[in-house]
Amino acid sequence: MKKVLITGASSGIGKALALAYAKKGFTIGLTARREDILHEVAQECKNLGGTPFVYKLDVQDAEKCKSVAEQFMKDAGGIDIAIANAGIGGDDGLYTGSSEQINSILNTNILGVTNTLMPFIPNMKEQHSGALVCISSVASFMPLPYHGGYSASKIAIRMIFDSWRPTLQKYTIKAVSICPGFVDTPIVKGPARRFPMKSAEDAAERFVKVIDLGYSTYIYPWPYHILIWIVRLIPERFYNWLIKKMFGKPIT
Ligand SMILES: NC(=O)c1ccc[n+]([C@@H]2O[C@H](COP(=O)([O-])OP(=O)(O)OC[C@H]3O[C@@H](n4cnc5c(N)ncnc54)[C@H](OP(=O)(O)O)[C@@H]3O)[C@@H](O)[C@H]2O)c1
Repeated sequence: MKKVLITGASSGIGKALALAYAKKGFTIGLTARREDILHEVAQECKNLGGTPFVYKLDVQDAEKCKSVAEQFMKDAGGIDIAIANAGIGGDDGLYTGSSEQINSILNTNILGVTNTLMPFIPNMKEQHSGALVCISSVASFMPLPYHGGYSASKIAIRMIFDSWRPTLQKYTIKAVSICPGFVDTPIVKGPARRFPMKSAEDAAERFVKVIDLGYSTYIYPWPYHILIWIVRLIPERFYNWLIKKMFGKPIT
């Protein structure tokens, strides 16, 4: 039976990934801070044919990430796929005079990913197989006003994966960066909800396929390729004018 650990499995994309893997009969490590919700997700996974294990975890806690990884590998009998999905949005708190808001985003979305994934790498190296997955974002290709921390965190993890990929290939470990555009989950707030969104279920079904195929960087859905291409081509002044019109106020 294949084994996958998912962070941020209590909601949105992480929950949808857990259910998609449950349908395939996987053993699934469900982690997040809200343990009560994880138990409900675990029951749904069982109903769909999966074997879930629940672990309460804050991805900012490196020691706890390590012990949860070790416990999951004991409970499940190994690891095939580790998905660093947990993440937070929110604005930088640009005028608050404090780095608290932006640092919380950077800590969760960058260090949370390395805390989650690094404990699995020695096992994957030894077994010469496995897949590491991070959920980056289309926001990693374009700076959004008031969201420097979020965009930067998503570039950072994509860059870490770009750096790791050629080295890990030697041990047939895949490093898959997934870059979603808007997906209908609680993280999408304020003016962003005006944009077309894919459902978390559709997104997860697609992500399970691309992880299996071992894509390097996957942008979802495909029209975002065109948007990213346009953003690269237009002059910076025009981009800044346009993006300020679209996201003129902080999204809290
Ligand atoms: N939805 C989109 O449009 C979109 C687009 C691009 C990228 N993404 C990325 O996709 C990932 C999943 O987001 P989502 O859209 O599914 O949002 P979501 O529904 O808000 O889910 C976020 C998940 O992360 C968990 N989480 C947050 N902080 C955590 C922490 N410190 N420790 C452990 N778990 C934590 C939350 O669980 P608890 O609160 O229970 O801990 C929750 O399960 C994020 O990395 C996000 O940046 C989303």
